[in-house]
Amino acid sequence: MSESPESVLPVVLAAGLGTRMKSSKPKVLHELCGRPMLSYVLDAAEEVGHRRPLVVYSPHTAAITEVFADRADFALQEAPLGTADAVKAALALAPADAGEILVLSGDVPLVDPDLLAELIDLRRARGAAMALVGVHTLDPEGLGRVVRSDDGGQVLRIVEQKDATPDELEIDEINAGVYVFDGPWLRGRIGDVQASPVSGEFYLPALVVLAREDRRPIVSLEVEDDGTLAGINDRAQLAEAELDLRMAINEAHMMAGVTMIDPSQTYVDASVELASDVTLEPNVILRGSTRIGEGTRIGAGSQIIDTVVGRNCFIWASVLECSEVEDEVQIGPFSHLRPKSSIGRSAKLGNFAEVKASRLEPGVQQHHFSYIGDAVLGEKTNVGAGTVTCNYDGVRKHKTKVGKRVFLGSDTMLVAPVELGDDSRTGAGSVVTRDVPDGMLAVGVPARVRKPRQPGDESPLDKTQ
Ligand code: UD1
Ligand code: CA
Repeated sequence: MSESPESVLPVVLAAGLGTRMKSSKPKVLHELCGRPMLSYVLDAAEEVGHRRPLVVYSPHTAAITEVFADRADFALQEAPLGTADAVKAALALAPADAGEILVLSGDVPLVDPDLLAELIDLRRARGAAMALVGVHTLDPEGLGRVVRSDDGGQVLRIVEQKDATPDELEIDEINAGVYVFDGPWLRGRIGDVQASPVSGEFYLPALVVLAREDRRPIVSLEVEDDGTLAGINDRAQLAEAELDLRMAINEAHMMAGVTMIDPSQTYVDASVELASDVTLEPNVILRGSTRIGEGTRIGAGSQIIDTVVGRNCFIWASVLECSEVEDEVQIGPFSHLRPKSSIGRSAKLGNFAEVKASRLEPGVQQHHFSYIGDAVLGEKTNVGAGTVTCNYDGVRKHKTKVGKRVFLGSDTMLVAPVELGDDSRTGAGSVVTRDVPDGMLAVGVPARVRKPRQPGDESPLDKTQ
């Protein structure tokens, strides 16, 4: 029997139909705080295991093999005949020298790796065939009950809800669905599990009885229900687990120096990074690979997805997607950064400013209902109210390049492809169809280019800014 401390193979069961989710998507791909349920289980498996996790899937859950191709190996269970059958499918592919097998359920995502480490140590110390976790809970409904000897010491069997007698249903200790097995013993016995006469399924917990037949010890950890071992079978349980996780995420950020005005109304994905002295107002949603720099305040109602925001910015009631924002930028209320936008230091975007796939150099101001797409705006350029880059001719997208310190009058239409030189300006309502050289003024429809009356003219045609 291999008992080297380097021998734990994690097996994750994820082949079940998940019918109670009433979903066309495999249950374990449903997300908690922005990451699929299964990714949390794999995190735990990687933390305590010594080998690449082996995930059991079925034709129904085959999508997981693509999502997690880089993190796990996969064993196919042809039909979901039960958890023991799933483990059998895993063992067919498992390395023959796997001395210890940690079995996790793909639908118990908040499982604590420290508890797993304790379970592994306990099994090893006692040379047990099997180690399991019993959870004392107020709500055992639907779960397997741990039946113990009268003195409470020994686990006699685990009985599923469907198969339980009324007395057994009174038991408040449930089986968490995580186990550590002696690998060779498991290999020898998995084939002996009989189908339940009630459901026809092969139950993994039936191994308790086989271990007792073999007079091998069964060890258990007994814990109180703190939500971390909750199995997710339906969407109400998904929402409960998400709430628990969200609170834990928020608390960790607050301990690390983030202010949350109302943590119960703040939604931060597990993958988001927040620096100290960030303030999050209520109803802020931060998703994916978002990172927020020190001292930045995210105002109520903002939603930020896969975006990096610098230090000391103020983002207010705005939507930012897949973009970058440098330090000291102000955005909002009601601005929208669409993907691939990059906003330079100290820029200001205001009411109903929309930016797509554009670079705004430092100090650009774009205050009022305007659209900048596929463009570069040079330093300190001012975008007048209602300015639009007409970047789409109905067939193709075209680029707009605007130089430094350009003054775009209200309601300027920049018909791309077009370039405006440094220090140029446009009159209110002009439709710019041709390039404007440095320092020149474009006015009219279509715009004609002429010299401004005086260099540095202080009376732009547009005075509505
Ligand atoms: C299981 C346990 C129950 C325990 C509960 C804890 C069994 C028979 N019962 O019940 O004692 O209290 O977990 O949450 O094990 N799966 C497969 N192939 C299958 C069937 C299931 O891979 O053929 C996977 C599922 O995808 C899931 C896990 O095994 O990730 C558990 O299956 P599920 O049907 O959810 O079992 P429960 O009824 O919750
Ligand atoms: Ca379950």
